Amino acid sequence: MSKSYQIAVIPGDGTGPEVIREALKVLHAVAPTESLHMECVHFDLGGERYLRTGEVLPPGTVEELTAFDAILLGAIGHPGVKPGILEKGLLLELRFQLDQYINLRPVILYPGVDTPLKDKGPDDVNFVIVRENTEGLYAGAGGFLRKGTPFEVAVQESVNTRMGVERCVRYAFDCCRRRNQKKKLTLCGKTNVLTYASDLWQRTFDEVAAEYPGIGTDYANVDAICMWMVKNPEWFDTIVTDNMFGDIITDLGAMIQGGMGIAAGGNINPAGVSMFEPIGGSAPKYTGKNIINPLAAIAAVQMMLDHMEEYDAAKRVEDGIRKVVAQDIKSLSAGAMGYSTSEVGDLVAKYVS
Ligand code: IPM
Ligand code: MN
Repeated sequence: MSKSYQIAVIPGDGTGPEVIREALKVLHAVAPTESLHMECVHFDLGGERYLRTGEVLPPGTVEELTAFDAILLGAIGHPGVKPGILEKGLLLELRFQLDQYINLRPVILYPGVDTPLKDKGPDDVNFVIVRENTEGLYAGAGGFLRKGTPFEVAVQESVNTRMGVERCVRYAFDCCRRRNQKKKLTLCGKTNVLTYASDLWQRTFDEVAAEYPGIGTDYANVDAICMWMVKNPEWFDTIVTDNMFGDIITDLGAMIQGGMGIAAGGNINPAGVSMFEPIGGSAPKYTGKNIINPLAAIAAVQMMLDHMEEYDAAKRVEDGIRKVVAQDIKSLSAGAMGYSTSEVGDLVAKYVS
């Protein structure tokens, strides 16, 4: 029986449209093999639109997006737009308004991919980071006092609600159980200094842990986790953390799995519409050159299919990525792949169909 999905596509800025083109090529190649029909609707959002019309997230857009099965996002960020306008006004606004309270970032080193970690291989780097995606320092709480004067004060508060922390922690335990690997969930915080926020996280974590007797628990301070991710990445299975720490350690994670060329993430609302993206950003210096690596966007498609419970299609895409990195491309870096952006898309599309 054929199944139909409606996908909202936001190519966005910089190299976003180039990598999304390849991601959709792969999506449309894999869909018929599993009798899936993918209906994609493009949304013109991002820096160009903002510069043209002054609109970042026009009224009604979020409501429109909620009607889709998933969202595929290219990149947000434009050199001609002041930092923060698009990132906060579009990307964070979508995460918040769509209540995508999980930012899920797998850190997997595929065979054939170079990692900067000496003596570490695919068996050592295989974990997932569950980042809270709607609270913490990202909540936008705080403000200025006497701005622009010699006496100015800037306060930026980290907002941690019991509800927000608990739903994230629960998701992480479920995720760890589903992975069924080392069955270990590590909480990443800063209990030795942030004695309010990290205390709430630790207590919630311990309480929820009691409901998951099959999952071992562990704790690491965020600074130490940066150290261990480099020195002993094989210790990790699932890591759960707040928004800001998660932002930082997922970039570190991306590097040890081979770089931004392959790193993807999902902004997940388990009960709503989720959004999948390559995490590398808009890479203005590579824009329009057909040299950027599209694998991260293709990995975002894999995550999207997985999220929609199209496991066979997701597996085909994963196998296609594994094949292209093992057999074909020389490097994951833009301009050094030995193939163009569109050729890498063609190869994966061939492998999945
Ligand atoms: C990410 C990005 C965003 C974040 C920026 C672009 C706002 O770095 O998805 O990790 O900080 O969350
Ligand atoms: Mn980031």
